[in-house]
Amino acid sequence: MTDTHPSSQLPFDAVAVLRQRLPDFQPRVAMVLGSGLGGLADQIADPVTIAYRDLPGFPVSTVQGHAGELLCGRLGDVAVLCMKGRSHFYEGKGADVMTSAIRTFKLIGCTSIVLTCAAGSLRPEVGPGSLVALTDHINLLPGNPLIGANDERFGARFISMANAYDAGLRQVLQQSARALGIAWHEGVYLATSGPSFETPAEIRMMRTLGADVVGMSTVPEVISARHCGLDVLAIATITNLAEGMSDVALSHEQTLHYAAVGAKDLMRLVPEYLRRLPEAG
Ligand code: HPA
Repeated sequence: MTDTHPSSQLPFDAVAVLRQRLPDFQPRVAMVLGSGLGGLADQIADPVTIAYRDLPGFPVSTVQGHAGELLCGRLGDVAVLCMKGRSHFYEGKGADVMTSAIRTFKLIGCTSIVLTCAAGSLRPEVGPGSLVALTDHINLLPGNPLIGANDERFGARFISMANAYDAGLRQVLQQSARALGIAWHEGVYLATSGPSFETPAEIRMMRTLGADVVGMSTVPEVISARHCGLDVLAIATITNLAEGMSDVALSHEQTLHYAAVGAKDLMRLVPEYLRRLPEAG
């Protein structure tokens, strides 16, 4: 939907808006905050806040708990652009709903992106409130953000997804977690369209496929980021054991509640990670 369509100009237009509002600001790291994880943005010192509706190509979300604004400022002394709220495939706007925003980050000079999301855990020992660094994914969305004519200005037609979740960045995150005494988990994220949660039978299937966590976001962003050459770090906040693994029926309220629990650690971890990030990262 992006490329041959006039909307392919949108990332350039969004960069123009950002440059006009913040002529001297050179961001290095982009961030996307998932459901209930917006508190991390409060740690950005004196941010300049721009509503998505004022940024061409940025997704105006309809989901409760997803504000739609970009915060620009410094976190852990690194210049960041932080998306508070994202759009999802299940909102019906296509798998490339986040692609313009991601390309804007690349065009303005960011070198890496930190993606956060809420997710269900398929591992009984990794319960609600835990953080899981993503090592890889299984895309079960009925879509891919790169479908359609390729826009060569951003990347190649066929891209490798080996090391899509950058091992070097993950190592910096692990060192940060160790320094702060935050339990370390890593695993494979399986993306499903939602918006209904999975059935217990689907969860059993997903475990067989090799998934550790399941969610309804992130994968389109990772694919779009790798296409345009941004390095990716992705962290899931576990909001629940997956359906069929506990007696608690799943709900969005539960997601928001436990996202807030995990967010407490995330709010310490991400600034520490940014402080430790090598200059080139
Ligand atoms: N399944 C899918 N998405 C989710 C879940 C889940 O159990 N928890 C939070 N997001």
